[in-house]
Amino acid sequence: MTAGQARIPVRDAFQRPLRDLRVSVTDRCNFRCQYCMPAGSDACAPYLGRNDILAFEEIARLVRTFARLGVEKVRLTGGEPLLRNGLPDLITMLSDGPALDIALTTNGSLLALLAEKLKRAGLQRVTVSLDSLDERTFQAMNGASFPVGRVLEGIAAAAEAGLAPIKINTVVIRGVNDGSVVELARWFKGTRQIVRFIEYMDAGNVACWSPAAVVPGAEIVRMIGAELPLEPAEANYRGEVAQRWRYADGEGEIGVITSVSQAFCGDCTRGRLSADGVLYTCLFSHRGLDLGRAMRSGANDAELEALICGAWSARTDRYSELRSRMGAKHEPRIEMSYIGG
Ligand code: GTP
Ligand code: 5AD
Ligand code: SF4
Ligand code: SF4
Repeated sequence: MTAGQARIPVRDAFQRPLRDLRVSVTDRCNFRCQYCMPAGSDACAPYLGRNDILAFEEIARLVRTFARLGVEKVRLTGGEPLLRNGLPDLITMLSDGPALDIALTTNGSLLALLAEKLKRAGLQRVTVSLDSLDERTFQAMNGASFPVGRVLEGIAAAAEAGLAPIKINTVVIRGVNDGSVVELARWFKGTRQIVRFIEYMDAGNVACWSPAAVVPGAEIVRMIGAELPLEPAEANYRGEVAQRWRYADGEGEIGVITSVSQAFCGDCTRGRLSADGVLYTCLFSHRGLDLGRAMRSGANDAELEALICGAWSARTDRYSELRSRMGAKHEPRIEMSYIGG
């Protein structure tokens, strides 16, 4: 934030501030993860057109506007964000703007190539998705026959570049990769890289989700703890998505993200901006606020701020809490590949 630009925090109908902005920079992806856009599904078709996608200057302008309303953390997502040409240039623009925590979530496929450049551009840290160390399981889950070794090279390059703390996201599906959980924990124990095991969510419209496929976080903690003793750790900040568990021998920590078994909507401070500039106030929304169109119709900064404030102040989202009480609702939803998880 440059001098003289005060933040004006906006709060939603449940008094939750807007702290965290997830920005999708492309809806394209070179993977076909079975929990997001399974091969053969039409989740990704058609992709957004070249002219629909916001230019870097447009994204940077929106991020500055969000920062004035209280956003402190920006996470770049996709699809696969590293497929967006010239991404380091966007990061340079963002790091020249207001002071923000800038992170990126990636499938790791291009990270070995880009880690150093991303760091030089001002990226602070990365989160890499990796669902198994077992070659067959991983390739089946990523739907693109992408080898484990290349993702591990990407993680090593990110560590070398200093994009720390590095987090590893593992979506756990019963009968698919629950047998990989302990091996993943063991592999990353003592490396300072933090694996977060994520409950499989009923996101989007194309993945074959069922409650039986969800492995609750408590079960994951029991599985790991039986072999590698764990003790609970305090949250780093209010509203942290992952519950932290540290190894009793001091060799680091894991996290579990329990959005199905123990929803965390009460502290949800996340807004999501799609690659074409639509603001969604929940991962499970099906309608959003088209800031891209407003901007291209000539809205000035004050008008953009007013639009965002209007949408955020009216926000009553708490989908995961309602799901646990009333079961999943079946309205159409945005796809994870469109909004970046
Ligand atoms: P840091 O705390 O900054 O490291 O990031 P984070 O915990 O927000 O991390 P990340 O973006 O990697 O989130 C991990 C995963 O948690 C996402 O890919 C989603 O699957 C899930 N998740 C994150 N935010 C939400 C949310 O608001 N609602 C739900 N239901 N799931 C979420
Ligand atoms: N359930 C849980 N997490 C998901 N992700 C994508 N789809 C799902 C789902 N159905 C998360 C993965 C990935 C991030 C981009 O989104 O963790 O790392
Ligand atoms: Fe997998 Fe992420 Fe691509 Fe979805 S966007 S298919 S979760 S790598
Ligand atoms: Fe936030 Fe919606 Fe996720 Fe609840 S379900 S934590 S409101 S994004």
